[in-house]
Amino acid sequence: MKAATINFWRSQIIGLDQLIPTVHGNRPYINFDNAATTPPLKAVSQAIEELLPWYSSIHRGFGFKSQFSTDLYRQIRNYVIRFLGGDTKEYTAFFVKNTTEALNKLSYRLPRKAGSIILSTKMEHHSNDLPWRVRHRTEFVRVTKDGILDLEDLENKLRRKQVALVTLCGASNVTGLINPIYTIAEMAHYYGAQIAVDAAQLLPHHRVFLEKSGTYLDFLVFSGHKIYAPYGSGVLIGRPSIFLKGCPESLGGGTVITVSEKNFTLAPLPDREEAGTPNLIGAFALAKALKWLEENDFPLLSAYEEELTAYAFQELQKIPGLILYGPSPGAHRRVGVITFNITGLPHGLTAAALAYEGGIAVRHGCFCARPYVHHLLGLREEEILYYEALAKKGQKKDLPGMVRVSLAFFNTRQEIDWLMKTLLYIAENKDKIRTDYQINEETGEYSPLSGGETFTRKLQTLLEEHFHIEWRNA
Ligand code: ALA
Repeated sequence: MKAATINFWRSQIIGLDQLIPTVHGNRPYINFDNAATTPPLKAVSQAIEELLPWYSSIHRGFGFKSQFSTDLYRQIRNYVIRFLGGDTKEYTAFFVKNTTEALNKLSYRLPRKAGSIILSTKMEHHSNDLPWRVRHRTEFVRVTKDGILDLEDLENKLRRKQVALVTLCGASNVTGLINPIYTIAEMAHYYGAQIAVDAAQLLPHHRVFLEKSGTYLDFLVFSGHKIYAPYGSGVLIGRPSIFLKGCPESLGGGTVITVSEKNFTLAPLPDREEAGTPNLIGAFALAKALKWLEENDFPLLSAYEEELTAYAFQELQKIPGLILYGPSPGAHRRVGVITFNITGLPHGLTAAALAYEGGIAVRHGCFCARPYVHHLLGLREEEILYYEALAKKGQKKDLPGMVRVSLAFFNTRQEIDWLMKTLLYIAENKDKIRTDYQINEETGEYSPLSGGETFTRKLQTLLEEHFHIEWRNA
């Protein structure tokens, strides 16, 4: 990719030139934690600045600004459906807080049918596992040793059981593996099931369509904070039929058209599913981010990310003692999410060393996908039980996990090279790293024995001088 193109993309993101402290002095922050949260797009924050003077209450006022805000909110809803290639007559969209809330809502609203099960998978984030487990009879499709979804097991389960819904991630937040959602949609529909796709990790990297290859998705969910729009909004898009029956999980203002002492009448869709004053700013931010991706050659951004992912995967293999999880991007399509461990170092220590030595932000642990991480680590049942007992006692320091690097279109090869340099230093100086860092037994977090005070000072200054929040060193 041309340097000028990458520089342009980088210029569109807020905060990339922000210097942050390390034990070796200030450095530019390298954000390799995009699977958790992406930084905002400038276009999004500028659009919000322009909207704020016109911002007012949705559905609740008759003033000009209120009418404008209500209209805008309606247009945004339709735009999001259209961005996903959906027909606004066939799909409805509800704005929620995030993907977790969207999946909880869906699990609550999907009717329980006697004898039917929900099929989730062993590679899901807890948000696409726990809501189903507690509200429905749920089974989980197996994954291979390498973490790939076992399509044969999926089809067997579809054939043998009465499945109401297949719910799965478009891409894993642990291995980045991309699932063949349209093939699975076809399979699900063939066996009379619906399909829900958790696109939280897929949509930031690839264009997703509600209708494609002669098939369709029944439900799709994602979050704004993972697509450069961190303003508290996510979406649940779906075919309306299930929402026309039963009662929403959350009731109150906006969800009803009549209320008397004894009765109430639910509002039409989509209002009945959005209790309370909607988050117009969040929904607007989310739509603006999608618009930016649409106007800035999303397929090119995807292609660049794929190239970066392959480069990072190839380079990581050169670090001595580094264990990678999941197949290579050459063997199986994956988004830029790569997990690893350095033999002999706790994952938390590797992550701390990356942050304090190199100014590199990653995530470590189990990424809210414990069953999948346990599987990839090859943990036996008794080991899992042992670690669960430790966690219940609050002993976090020995819990299993991995280190995760997650990429976005604004990352560069130079940043990956810096990651490799820092990892090589860590891998070749394990004893030094072990003695240079201490663990907080309670939190399980590592910090350097010396040099860490620059971190603390910067946190304090930011809080007190910049954000006027009093510092308390607990
Ligand atoms: N689901 C997000 C992650 O994987 C928070 O980090």
